Amino acid sequence: MPTITINGVECEFTKGQMILQVARASGVAIPSYCFHEGLSIVASCRICLGEALAPNPRNGGKLEPFMGGKLFPTCQTPAAEGMVVNTDSPKAVANQKAVMEYLLINHPLDCPVCDQAGECTLQDFSQQYGRGESRFEEQKVKQPKKDVGERILLYSDRCILCTQCVRFTREVTGTDELYINGRGNKEEIDVFPGLGLDNPLASNVIDLCPVGALLDKDFLFTQRVWFLKRTPSIDGITASGDNIWIEHNEGGVYRIKPRENAAVNKWWITDEVRYGWKHIHAENRLRSPMCREHGALVESSYSRAYGDAIAGLRKAAAGGKRVALLVSPNLTCEEAYALGTLAKLIDPQAVFGLGPVPRVGEDRVFPPQLSGDDPKAFTMYAEKAPNARGVQRVLGAIGQMVLDAEAFFARMKEPDIGAIIATGNYREDWAAPGVLGAIDREPREGADGRFVVLIDTHGSALIDHADVVIPGATWAEKAGTFESARKMLQAFEQAIPVIELAKTEGQIALDLIAEFHGEGGEEGMAAHRAQVVIVDEQPGQVPMAVEVAAPRARLFEAGEIRAEMADRYPGLGAFVSEVAVPEVEVGAVDGVEMVDL
Ligand code: SF4
Ligand code: FES
Repeated sequence: MPTITINGVECEFTKGQMILQVARASGVAIPSYCFHEGLSIVASCRICLGEALAPNPRNGGKLEPFMGGKLFPTCQTPAAEGMVVNTDSPKAVANQKAVMEYLLINHPLDCPVCDQAGECTLQDFSQQYGRGESRFEEQKVKQPKKDVGERILLYSDRCILCTQCVRFTREVTGTDELYINGRGNKEEIDVFPGLGLDNPLASNVIDLCPVGALLDKDFLFTQRVWFLKRTPSIDGITASGDNIWIEHNEGGVYRIKPRENAAVNKWWITDEVRYGWKHIHAENRLRSPMCREHGALVESSYSRAYGDAIAGLRKAAAGGKRVALLVSPNLTCEEAYALGTLAKLIDPQAVFGLGPVPRVGEDRVFPPQLSGDDPKAFTMYAEKAPNARGVQRVLGAIGQMVLDAEAFFARMKEPDIGAIIATGNYREDWAAPGVLGAIDREPREGADGRFVVLIDTHGSALIDHADVVIPGATWAEKAGTFESARKMLQAFEQAIPVIELAKTEGQIALDLIAEFHGEGGEEGMAAHRAQVVIVDEQPGQVPMAVEVAAPRARLFEAGEIRAEMADRYPGLGAFVSEVAVPEVEVGAVDGVEMVDL
């Protein structure tokens, strides 16, 4: 591989890479504002300039000053074999100081109230490459604040005119809403008259903006970024498989950001994925199990809910009736496996179905002139569930035909169905008339009533159709694997704890398996059975014991379940060999010592 030396570090590169790209890939720091791997190169900010020596082939390969010894933009100059580049020479450093001074002339000193503080490259580079004090004594030019879109504010006086936002709307979305208005120190970013920055990928400009000029209305003033922790995850809203970071603090999600993956979403996500997490903290989350008592649903303990559920399912199977399992396309592959195993345990001929897969319109490709197969294109998927393919793959492999939702609901009308385990976990109310007509405990013409176990995250009319209700968990509260529309298996981590007394559907399935086997049950999924008790001690009061989790198999650990799936079913070997597992980020910053307070 050819090599180049940058700031004394020998770096390998591939032909066509720019010097700045090579430096980044090799961990050599060069400041930059206008360069982005996903956008055209304009070399306008001038902070990345360096000087170099390059071998002259007409002089026996002797190193000679490149470009006559002038500074040149490293973001726009391809790396060449044997080149020696310096962005830490006195000349390059003097340029960095000059650029920083120029950028800060009209920049307001409002870092304490700026949302970008803590993740602002102007702040960082000012400290690393700036002069340390301002020589500017005149009045700063004041630019207006603008409401440029449904979710985006523009604080123009913080803008450093890197033009990344303008290039994004021209080159990635092809929607062209933004332009530069004015000349000289009056230049400002603006939306074309009559347009709003409202395209489906618009909020990526917030991530692109290196300063606090483009701000997220949804996140504005909600949290200081240094309090946020981030967990690698996968889009849990659509079938895109887009790689994301879930940013959270103290059990609450605050925002979602794209996680770079060149093979999937590159650097971008849709606004739908970015803001589609509000249901996690919705008021109507189910927070406690419920059982029927004298015909009415009442909150219950887990041991009661599990006991009733298994008794009802067992009774149906013992009476020669079928147990039906509806697995939501919002659940993980590991959960589909655990639920399928549970249903087959109770009734080896259980009926399997895939829950309704919501679709909105057609897939959309950005920019519109490209086809979806073009490596430069970004696709927004019409399918609004993350794992329909994964659920189908897993249930199919463990030995049953998997009915689609329509066929499953039709099948539920037949008299041999004695019990239903239904899972929801939809972002929106999924209790449509067709669902309510099929998942129902009431006796119907020519058939007895059925026993219904509902495992769901949000309250809906379906609750009144169930005998036992168990609260499940959203994707941010669990780890697992989704299979995207591109048929990629991607694992993700749990970002926040499960709310209150809810549990992940995978854990519920393992607990129910343990309940089925009973005390001292079989090995395998029910190897361990434990009572978990939390003692809630309040000052001045008698300690009160609250049972939060009854018989339990073992902790649901997604990685272990994947290994078990591959081991038990050869058709599921891909869950060991093909799953892309995200790297866990190490939070430490060089030179910063973390202390426990
Ligand atoms: S608003 Fe931000 S991204 Fe756009 S040109 Fe200004 S600094 Fe760059
Ligand atoms: S990053 Fe090179 S000129 Fe802006």
